[in-house]
Amino acid sequence: MSIRFIKNDKRFIINTKNTTYAFEIAFDRYLCHTYYGKKTSKIPAAEMRMLSFAPYMADLSEKNSPDVFAQECSFYGSGDFRPNALRLSADGTGVSDFVYKSHRTFRGRLELDGLPAARADENTQTLEVTLIDTVSGCRLKLYYTVFAELDIISRYMVVENVGKKTVKIDKCMPLMLDIGRSDLDMISLYGSHCHEVNFQRVPLHHGTQSVYSKRGGSSHQYNPFIALCDHNATDERGEVYGFNFVYSGSFLDEVDVDQIGRTRVLMGLGSDCFSYTLEAGQSFCSPEAVMTYSANGIGKMSRNFHKFVRNHIMPPVSLEPHPVVLNTWEACYFDIDEDKLVKFAREAKKTGFDMLVMDDGWFGKRNDDRAGLGDWFENRDKFPDGLASFVRKIQAEGVKFGIWVEPEMVNPDSDLYRAHPEWALRVEGREPLRSRHQLVLDMSNSDVVDYLIALFDKTFEGIQIDYFKWDMNRHMSNVGSSVLPADKQGEVFFRYMKGVYRLFDWFLDRFPNAVIETCSGGGGRYDLGMMQYGIQIWTSDNTNPYDRTMIQASAMLAYPAATMSCHVSNPHEDLRSLDYRYKVAVGGMLGYELNILNMSEDIKRDISAQIAEYKSFDHVMRLGEYYNLAFPTKYDYSAYYYTTEDASEIVLTVIEKAGCKKGTTKKLRVKVADANANYTDVRTGKTYSGDELRAGITVELLGERDSAHLFLFKKA
Ligand code: GLA
Repeated sequence: MSIRFIKNDKRFIINTKNTTYAFEIAFDRYLCHTYYGKKTSKIPAAEMRMLSFAPYMADLSEKNSPDVFAQECSFYGSGDFRPNALRLSADGTGVSDFVYKSHRTFRGRLELDGLPAARADENTQTLEVTLIDTVSGCRLKLYYTVFAELDIISRYMVVENVGKKTVKIDKCMPLMLDIGRSDLDMISLYGSHCHEVNFQRVPLHHGTQSVYSKRGGSSHQYNPFIALCDHNATDERGEVYGFNFVYSGSFLDEVDVDQIGRTRVLMGLGSDCFSYTLEAGQSFCSPEAVMTYSANGIGKMSRNFHKFVRNHIMPPVSLEPHPVVLNTWEACYFDIDEDKLVKFAREAKKTGFDMLVMDDGWFGKRNDDRAGLGDWFENRDKFPDGLASFVRKIQAEGVKFGIWVEPEMVNPDSDLYRAHPEWALRVEGREPLRSRHQLVLDMSNSDVVDYLIALFDKTFEGIQIDYFKWDMNRHMSNVGSSVLPADKQGEVFFRYMKGVYRLFDWFLDRFPNAVIETCSGGGGRYDLGMMQYGIQIWTSDNTNPYDRTMIQASAMLAYPAATMSCHVSNPHEDLRSLDYRYKVAVGGMLGYELNILNMSEDIKRDISAQIAEYKSFDHVMRLGEYYNLAFPTKYDYSAYYYTTEDASEIVLTVIEKAGCKKGTTKKLRVKVADANANYTDVRTGKTYSGDELRAGITVELLGERDSAHLFLFKKA
C-alpha cells in the first residue's frame, strides 16, 4: 500500500515512487502537515512553536495554535490567520472548526459528482479522512488519491450537511499545502488572447501572491498551473512542487508567505465567483486539484504531469494517432458553402489529409460574428441540400468530417435569443454586456442544457461526424441566472461548469466514434478539465510560428504535446516559411488551415511530404517524454527533444528566432540516448553513436529568417 496509518504516532504516510507525504493527528483534533518531498522514512514531527498573538483552545497553549503548525486544511475564523481553505457556517459568521473523526483507505477512487477527475487504474489508492464540525452540523471528507508510479497526489473535498440547519460555503480550496520555507520561486503562466501562457518566474515574498480567473473560463490570462521551486532550480536540478486544477471555470491559486517565512499554497474555487448553500441532507463535492514533487528539477515535474495527463486525464483515444486536419477557418472565415468545401475535401484527400473540419459559419444566419449563435441548424443558402447530404459528399471524397460548434453561446440576433432572452446569463435590471457580439447561455439552467441536447441531437441525426471543435469565445460578465433565488446566485459559475460538463458527457455518449477538440478563442480553457473531454486543445488563435514557439514551450511545462493542436497556416504570405511553420507545428499535433484551392501543385506536394513524414514519428511527441534544452524566452533559439521511453526514437528540434547570429554553434546534449547504440538521422541518413548524442551534437545556426532544424534519430 502506498498509504499507511501509523497508529502509535497517529501519522499518515503516503509514499509514491520518489516522494513521501505525511501528516498526523494532533491533540485528537487537528490534521498537522509534517512532510512533502523526496522519499524518506525519517518523517519529522509536527512543529509546535511559540508565536505571540496566536489563539488557542482553552486546554492548549500558544504553541499549539492552528496559526502555528502546518495544516492539511484550514478553517476561517478558528485561529489560523493565514489564507484559509474553507469558509463555511450555518450562522453567517463563516466560522467553522472541523476536527478529526475517522479515516479509511481503499483501492481505486470515488467518482466526483458531475465533475471531471483523474481516472484510476489498478494501482490507484485513496485515503479518505473525515472531520466533523458539530456547530454547523457538517461532515467534511478530505480525499487524497495517489498515483504512486507517477508521483502524483490529488485532493478534493466533500462537505455533507448532516445537521438540521442550512449551511453556506463561501470559500472552497480543496488543495492546501504548507511548506516550512519561502526561499522559493513561483512559476506561473500569464497571457492574453493570442498570447497565452507566458512564462513568469519570480521569488516569493511576504504576503499573498495569486493567479486567478473570474471570467467563467480558466482563461488566457492566468493558467491554473503553478509551480514553486528552489531559486537555483534548473530543468535538471533542484526541488520543484507542481500544482494544477482539474477544472475549467473561475479559480484561485493563492501562495502566501506568512509572518515567519512559511509558505501556504491553496488551489480551488476561491470566494469571488463561488458560494454554495447546502440545505440539511445535501452535500457538495469540490473539483479535484493535483500536485507533484520533483527533487530533480523542473523537467521531471513536467514529465510527471505529462504522463499523468496522458494516462489519467485525457480520453484513452487520445493515445492513438490524432487526425491531421485541414481546417477552414483561416482559409475562408465565414465564407463557406457546399461547392467550395467539397472541392476542399477533394484536394485535402489528394494531399494526404485525414479530415476536413468545417469551422464557424455553417449554421443559422452566420455570415459574420454578429448573428446566428444558438441556431444550430444548417444555413440552407450555403448547404441547399442539407447538412446530411453535404457531409456524405465530403466523406465520398475520402476524408473524415469535423464540425465547429460553440454550444454555450448565443447572439442577441438569433432565433434562440428571440424566443428565450431569459436563457442568457444576466442580472435583472442591467443591460448584459456583449463580447464578440454575443452573450453567454445560462448553462446552470438544466432547461438550457436539455434544449441544446435536443437541438444537436436533431441537427446531427443520421450524420456521421468524426470530430467536433467545441469553442467558447467570450468570458462571463453580469453573471446571474433567471432560475435561481437571490441567495443562490453565487452558485452560478460552478453550476454553469457542471452544465457544460454534462453537455460534454452527452456528446461523447451520443457520438461514441467522434472525438472533440476543445477551444476557447485558442487557449482560453487550456486546463485539465477540458483535457478530460477532448483529444487536444486549440492552443492559440495566434498561428505565427515565432509566437507559437514561445506558447508551446510554456505549455509544455505542465501539459503533454498530445494536448496541443498546432496548425500550419497561411504559407502564401511568405512561401519560405512553410518548412519553418511545419517544424514549429510538429512540436504538437499537426494540422493545417489554409486555402488549398489557391495553392500551387508544388506546395501541395510539400505539404503531402510533411504529413507523411509527421505520421512516421508523431507517436514520439504523442506518447514520448519531453526534454527542454533551450527555453525561447531565455535564448535566441528554442531547442527541445522528445524521446520514446526506450530511447529508440528521438525527435530533436531547434527553432531559431529572429536575430540569431549566423554561424553560431550550439551543442545539444541528448542525455537519454543509449550509449551502447548507434542512431541514424532518418532525414539525412547520417549516423551518430549514442555517446556522441549524449556528449552533444553541434548545430550551426543559420541566422536567416525562418531557420529551423529537425532531426529524427532512430536506433540502428
Ligand atoms: C475562435 C477560434 C478560432 C475559430 C473562430 C471561429 O476564435 O479560436 O479557431 O474557430 O473562433 O469563430
